[in-house]
Amino acid sequence: MRSPSRTTTATRLVLEQVREAERGAEVELLDLGAHRIQLCDGRPLADYDDATRAAVEQVCRADGYVVGTSVYRAAYSGVLKNLLDILPADAMADKPAAMVATGGSRDHYLVLDYALRPVLAALRARVTARVLYADPGAMPDREPSGEFRDAAVALASELVHAVQRA
Ligand SMILES: Cc1cc2nc3c(=O)[nH]c(=O)nc-3n(C[C@H](O)[C@H](O)[C@H](O)COP(=O)(O)O)c2cc1C
Repeated sequence: MRSPSRTTTATRLVLEQVREAERGAEVELLDLGAHRIQLCDGRPLADYDDATRAAVEQVCRADGYVVGTSVYRAAYSGVLKNLLDILPADAMADKPAAMVATGGSRDHYLVLDYALRPVLAALRARVTARVLYADPGAMPDREPSGEFRDAAVALASELVHAVQRA
């Protein structure tokens, strides 16, 4: 991710809206651009370093997720897949998840539905119907447009309702 990351901005926006929609909700950002997570090689979780296990624990203790990614080569990012690979298989099971992506063009707006949704479904997360995709027009000068903010509000609302029902 480059700094300032558009993906972090978009993901933070949805997290802020979750906090707005559910007063008192505890919201944490796990920024994979800032964490040094080891590469998944199939070893037991206990054998990864402290930073990697701390990231996994942060995921495990959450009741719901906003999963944000940059689009890389018509898919979601490798650092996200690496973390998903390290997670215990049931870490996200039965927990609601909303997906957010930023891309360099409109061409790959289906990445969330065609690439990330099946992976989260395999982890048995309850993925929201709505997704949030930002092409460069959605965040001119890296500032979310009004339309994009509205879409973030709608996504956060769907996620909060799903967490309340879970
Ligand atoms: C290695 C690489 C591959 C990329 N591949 C795509 C792509 O296939 N489709 C696309 O729309 N954008 C692509 N992009 C553009 C990024 O998705 C876009 O700039 C994104 O907003 C970057 O997020 P960030 O600011 O959080 O790093 C690519 C960027 C990089 C660095």
